[in-house]
Amino acid sequence: MPSQKPYDELTIDSVNMLSEDTAREAMVYLNEQIASHDIAYHQKDAPVISDAQYDTLVKLSLAIENAFPNLISQKNPSMRIGSAPSEQFAKVKHARPMLSLSNIFDPEEVGLFIQRINRFLNLFEDEAVGFTAEPRIDGLSISLRYEKGRLISAATRGDGTTGEDVTQNIRTISDIPSMLPEKAPDICEIRGEIYMKKTDFHALNIAQGDAGKKVFANPRNAAAGSLRQKDALITAKRPLHFFAYASGEISKPISNTHSGFLTCLSEFGFTVNPLTTKCGSVESLLSTYHNIASLRSELEYDIDGVVYKVDRLDWQERLGQVSRAPRWAMAHKFPAEQAETRLLDIDIQIGRTGALTPVARLQPINVGGVVVSNATLHNEGEIGRKDIRIGDTVSLQRAGDVIPQIVASLPNQRTGSETVFSFPDSCPICGYPAIRLDNEAVRRCTGGFNCHAQSVERLIHFVSRDAFDIEGLGAKQIVLFNELGWLKQPSDIFLLPHRRDEIAQLDRMGDKSATNLFNAINSRREIALGRVIFALGIRQIGIATARLLALTYQSLTSLQESCLHAQDITHPAYQDLINIDQIGESVAGDLIDFFAQEENQKLVARLLEHITPIAPTTPISTSPISGKIIVFTGTLNQLSRAEAKAQAERMGAKVAGSVSKKTDYVIVGSDSGSKAQKAAELGVTILTEEEWIALL
Ligand code: IVH
Repeated sequence: MPSQKPYDELTIDSVNMLSEDTAREAMVYLNEQIASHDIAYHQKDAPVISDAQYDTLVKLSLAIENAFPNLISQKNPSMRIGSAPSEQFAKVKHARPMLSLSNIFDPEEVGLFIQRINRFLNLFEDEAVGFTAEPRIDGLSISLRYEKGRLISAATRGDGTTGEDVTQNIRTISDIPSMLPEKAPDICEIRGEIYMKKTDFHALNIAQGDAGKKVFANPRNAAAGSLRQKDALITAKRPLHFFAYASGEISKPISNTHSGFLTCLSEFGFTVNPLTTKCGSVESLLSTYHNIASLRSELEYDIDGVVYKVDRLDWQERLGQVSRAPRWAMAHKFPAEQAETRLLDIDIQIGRTGALTPVARLQPINVGGVVVSNATLHNEGEIGRKDIRIGDTVSLQRAGDVIPQIVASLPNQRTGSETVFSFPDSCPICGYPAIRLDNEAVRRCTGGFNCHAQSVERLIHFVSRDAFDIEGLGAKQIVLFNELGWLKQPSDIFLLPHRRDEIAQLDRMGDKSATNLFNAINSRREIALGRVIFALGIRQIGIATARLLALTYQSLTSLQESCLHAQDITHPAYQDLINIDQIGESVAGDLIDFFAQEENQKLVARLLEHITPIAPTTPISTSPISGKIIVFTGTLNQLSRAEAKAQAERMGAKVAGSVSKKTDYVIVGSDSGSKAQKAAELGVTILTEEEWIALL
């Protein structure tokens, strides 16, 4: 239990009499109390107070919010998703990953999307690709697995690879059939969106408010909170619905097209969104988009855009995916929701790369169903360009889950008391100089790991999901351990188990949690090299590039050495680096800069004293082109360059942009030029397109 001043004597009526400072203190206290009771109730199944006592705490917190809207924050019970943490559910590995969608906002991009598909599939210009357009439901996606006609498991999306087992909860939703007809394939995974109707959401919130329980920020949070209940009986009482729109693993194809597949789903007993429309051109996609947008406010459920999908399933297969999004689908989002409010102040936040980001503190305002009290101002140039002053009325926008942004200041509403913000030239946290390079918009703190804020952000990134993913070591613990002086840089994580006694004695830790944490840390001493490279937080190196670097260099030391050599751009190591697909001069520059810094070299060396990175094996080791370096040149006839490249990479090859001694095969199409000549000079094997296809 938090050891702060208790507010035992506080009543709803006396809340109005508090000063703002006391109200803030009370709010912090109440929130911590509520959070610890949530854990006791949901995670430990061991409530320590009665439901009525719990309800009183929540009511007091809501009463303070009412009396002091300034204190509304994402941390308050009213803002939290009404769901318990994921540890309460068993994990389910998806048979096929649950992908996300690329987004577009601009209608012009619809044409580009179609062109990309045409080019990838190498279609004739007049060969039309058929699509479906369907609403993008604002709910939570779920994968339902049926075996021999029976629903055997249901899982949330989770991180796309592993989700949470919510089978019992799903069985309470009447839109979801528990049996499929006999004609359904033996293994049949159906995916779609769980949602709550807007009217049901409002009714639920009224009931929750009356009972002093959590109210939800929007229907999506209400649906998520209702589904992810430990007690499925609670889910059963919540009005949840389901639209089916995609497949996972299917043992026998049930249609050649997505539209045909949706028809089968209706026959199987699922609800398919009735606004789904077949379209054959940019014009028809856009007119369906406008039609669905015009119906949006009248629909019973929230939608935030329209999803376009290639109808032919064999083409979907060929198009495949980039990172976690399919090439064959696209979400065309509705424009962002806008609102106006007052800018109360500007704070500076320090990011993991040291960037000083100005953050607008706003008079809290509801934007499209979400209360917003902070917005990003991006960088110092933005404040000047938009002439944003403290005290201004500003317009802001929010698009889906994107961080709210200030669009403009409204100078005609000024009273004269507004003040111009002067951007600091030193880090407000560590005091080191904050420098803006000539070619950069961003000012950066030069304190590195000496800067408390930067080191905390870097450490939070280091343990994030795609990096070391250490359960039990979240932002809160990192801040705490950092403040205690135990955790300054990544290698310190692996020294934490030496502090067993001190850690076990921390408030809310205890022996069991400490043991779990140390087990989680120790289990990460052997870890995939790609995760380690990503964890270093090098600018522009996302997880996909990190994996590519891992595949190419096979060890951290070899990557570091190559980058050190590559400081000299005439060194072959530099060519090798930029020959890696997706690595251009700018990314190469950031990698080289990172490893050139002595501080980072030390960081890597210390880290390697504690961990053993595991080098990846090539994706398909039996493939004839696995691990080979391939260069395409000239025009291919049967495949587009993009498809050929994607196919080669899928089979484990590395596709390079230029020919060198290390190249294994050069595939020459028609009109091939200097690359074919260079290959001949270097004695590299040259293949025609036909020979290449035969090899595959
Ligand atoms: S298709 C491979 N269709 O959007 C693509 N997704 O941004 C699989 N969503 O995780 C998704 N409505 O939660 C698809 N009609 C729709 C959708 C839809 C909502 C959600 C879904 C998915 C997310 C991706």
